[in-house]
Amino acid sequence: MEKGDFPRFHLGFAEVNRVLGGGLVPGSLVLVGGEPGIGKSTLLLQLSAMMAEKNKVVAYISGEESINQVKLRSERLGIGGKGIYFLSESDLAAVLECLEGLSPALAIIDSIQTMCLEDVAGMPGSISQVRECTWRLERWAKQNDVPLLITGHVTKEGAIAGPGTLEHIVDVVLYFEGEPFSSYRVLRSVKNRFGSTNEVGIFEMCDNGLTEVDNPSQVFLSAYKDGTIGSVVVPTLEGSRPLLVEIQALTTPNNFAPPRRIANGIDFNRLLLIIAVLTKRAGLRLFNQDIIVNVTGGLRVNEPAVDLGIASAIASSFHDSKPTSSLVVLGELGLNGELRGVPQLERRIAEAVRLGFKSCLMPRIKSKASLDSANIQLIEVSSVAEALRLGLSKGK
Ligand code: TYD
Ligand code: MG
Repeated sequence: MEKGDFPRFHLGFAEVNRVLGGGLVPGSLVLVGGEPGIGKSTLLLQLSAMMAEKNKVVAYISGEESINQVKLRSERLGIGGKGIYFLSESDLAAVLECLEGLSPALAIIDSIQTMCLEDVAGMPGSISQVRECTWRLERWAKQNDVPLLITGHVTKEGAIAGPGTLEHIVDVVLYFEGEPFSSYRVLRSVKNRFGSTNEVGIFEMCDNGLTEVDNPSQVFLSAYKDGTIGSVVVPTLEGSRPLLVEIQALTTPNNFAPPRRIANGIDFNRLLLIIAVLTKRAGLRLFNQDIIVNVTGGLRVNEPAVDLGIASAIASSFHDSKPTSSLVVLGELGLNGELRGVPQLERRIAEAVRLGFKSCLMPRIKSKASLDSANIQLIEVSSVAEALRLGLSKGK
C-alpha cells in the first residue's frame, strides 16, 4: 500500500518494503525495536548486504559488537561485506563525522542504547542520552537526505529509556517480534509518517539468517490435521493480510488444586473471559479443569475475532468431540454469549477457500451478497451455545 507521493527506494526484502508502506523514504529515521536476541542485527545486516549488492554505499555502525563479531555473523549469513562500511563506535559525534565523510545511501545504527554524546549527561542508554542521540540522528538524516535505520532494545516490561521514549521523534517505528522457541518473526509497524501501520512482514529465522515467508497460512497450518480434537483453524488478520492459524486447547481435570489457565499466543485475560462465557452461557463445567490454549507456530493473535475459535477449541477438548471436518471458525464473543461480526470477512473467507476449507462457522450477517460466490458453506450462528452445537460433532 503506497501512501502519498514520497520517493522511495526498495530494500531487498519485499516484506520489509510492505511494512514500510512501499519502501524506504530518503531522509527518514526508522526505529526497529525488539527484545534482545530476536534478530534485529541479523535483519539489518542482511538488508545492508542486499543494498550493497546494488552498488550502493552502506554504513553499518555497531556500538554493541566488535568488527570481529560482525564479521563472524556476516560469514554465517554468507555476506562478503563488499560495499558495506563497518564501524564499531559508540561515540555519536564520531559516528556522525564518519557518516559525513562517507555519505552512504543507507546507514544502520545498532543500537541506539549504546550511543552516547560527551556533552550530554547520563550513561549510554539513559533517557537523556537516548533522546538526544536520536534527535541528532533525525536531524542528520533530514539534512543529508539519507535514510537511517536504528535498533532499540525493548524488554517484556517495556523498557526504561527504550524505544517507547523515542517514538515521537522518529518517523517510523517497527517492532520485530517472536515467541520464544519459535523460529517465526513478525515485523510490525506501530508508527509510520509515510504509510499505514496495518502491514506486517513475516520471516523465519534459519541457520543462515532470516528468510521471508511468502505463504504464511500454509506454514502455520503445516502440522494441522483436520478433525483433531481440541484443534480449530481461525482466519485471523495480520495487518491487512489474512492468515490462517491453528488454535489448540487442552482441558484436563484437576480436582485438587485451583485450576490453572495457560495462554500461549493469546491474551490471558481474554482467555479468562472466554472460559467465563463458556461456563455461564454454554453450560461447560470448567471450574475443575486446567486449561491450556496454544497458537501453533509461535504466533500471537490479539484480535477478538478469534474468540469463538478459542471457545470451540476448549469445548472440543472438554467434550472430546471433533470439530466439523474442514471447518474454520470466526467471531467475537460478548459476555452474554452472543456473537459479534468481524471486520474484513471477505478477505478472511477468501483465504480459507484458497487453502481448501469447506465451511465457516461464524456470526449471522445481514448481507451475504459479497460472499455469494465464495465456494464455502457458511454456518451462521447467533450464540456460543448454538455455535458449539453446530460446529462440533456429536460423538467422538
Ligand atoms: P540478533 O540479530 O543478534 O538479535 P538482536 O540484534 O535482536 O539482539 O540475533 C541473534 C539470534 O538469532 C541468536 O540467538 C542466534 C540467532 N541466529 C540464527 O538463528 N541464525 C542466524 O543466521 C543468525 C545470524 C542468528
Ligand atoms: Mg543486536
